[in-house]
Amino acid sequence: MAYYWFKAFHLIGIVVWFAGLFYLVRLFVYHAEASQQPEPAQTILKTQYEIMEKRLYNIITTPGMAVTVVMAIGLISTEPEILKSGWLHIKLAFVVLLLAYHFYCGRIMRQLAKGECQWTGQQFRALNEAPTVLLVVIVLLAVFKGSLPLDLTTWLIVALVISMAASIQLYAKKRRLDQEKLSSSQG
Ligand code: HEM
Repeated sequence: MAYYWFKAFHLIGIVVWFAGLFYLVRLFVYHAEASQQPEPAQTILKTQYEIMEKRLYNIITTPGMAVTVVMAIGLISTEPEILKSGWLHIKLAFVVLLLAYHFYCGRIMRQLAKGECQWTGQQFRALNEAPTVLLVVIVLLAVFKGSLPLDLTTWLIVALVISMAASIQLYAKKRRLDQEKLSSSQG
């Protein structure tokens, strides 16, 4: 029974963690784009985004990560045999990348607060695709385990995910260009 409790809260932790990661980098987009605003709007917006980012990271995202990891340790301690599975080793390699991404976002947050981050909104939009890729790969490994099929259906799903990510990027680019055109015609 303990195993199911650990698994349930492992999944709840993942949902919270990813909600935090996705929203955090969206806030970075707005934070970076606030530089285009005139004063005093720029300072007001940046101060507000800084507070929102800090709260989101410390109260939602990091606790979500901690719950995921602690519950995973609980899962493994109740079923230590699972440690011998090859799929888990591959999954853990991707989880390490996800943890690196999490702490890297924390670093960006501190740089933005100090005004030392040179990233553009467009670059942050692209960065926000990284956790999507990790989420898909890790969930596929966790669900299919050693029997992850590499047939046509899997590749079609991969193509669908990539094209969705590309469409989001293209839509954001179109909106930016439209906005630039509008402001140059007004100016
Ligand atoms: C500290 C890192 C992690 C470890 C050690 C770990 C370990 C585990 C273990 C042992 C299970 C139970 C597998 C089973 O019952 O067959 C599991 C389930 C699961 N994990 Fe993780 N996990 C980690 C992080 C993650 C992350 C970051 C995600 C998602 C992005 C994830 C997604 C899942 C899913 C979806 C399941 C349910 C699979 C199923 O019941 O078929 N895990 N994890």
